[in-house]
Amino acid sequence: MVAAASVMRLTPLFKARGICTALDYGAGTLRNSKYLLKKGFRVWVLDTEEKLEKYARNSGLPLAGLVEAGEARRCCLEVDLALANFVLNVLGGPKERRAVVENIYWNLRPGGLYLAEVAKKGREPWEGIVHSRELDELIVPIGFLKLKVLDMTTSLAVLYEKVTKM
Ligand SMILES: C[S@@+](CC[C@H](N)C(=O)[O-])C[C@H]1O[C@@H](n2cnc3c(N)ncnc32)[C@H](O)[C@@H]1O
Repeated sequence: MVAAASVMRLTPLFKARGICTALDYGAGTLRNSKYLLKKGFRVWVLDTEEKLEKYARNSGLPLAGLVEAGEARRCCLEVDLALANFVLNVLGGPKERRAVVENIYWNLRPGGLYLAEVAKKGREPWEGIVHSRELDELIVPIGFLKLKVLDMTTSLAVLYEKVTKM
């Protein structure tokens, strides 16, 4: 499965900024993790226990580590980059979305990058749609600065930088 277009387009920028370590938050089938591994990044994978078991545990990939979603807050990985592609869309509501962004904050080093990508329309009827203004309202107050927006046909990807302590 091909990696998200946003990840492929931004990889030269990640390299230019000296990024070495990445956390694939809500990694699913690992399409983005596999891409980043091939590009030489050290990759941590985070998802629910069910998804880790299905896709990551016996993948044979040289992953830096696996994190079960419930453990995210405790890890403090200090990674250079966190990706969360199509994760905010599938969460239950504002409380769950805030918890994910806070977990990302705590696992990034100061100055680290956070790529948030959301589908413009829910692919399934139960998926909440997240708009660009909602992304900023959710993410910026937690301690991020917006760096770049990729407005694509079916998705919106926004790159943020961790700037302040909560
Ligand atoms: C639509 S998939 C996207 C997978 C991957 N990021 C991609 O772009 O292919 C959403 C993923 O988020 C995961 N997820 C759902 N709730 C989560 C949570 N609270 N914390 C972490 N991951 C979660 C799901 O298990 C699923 O793997």
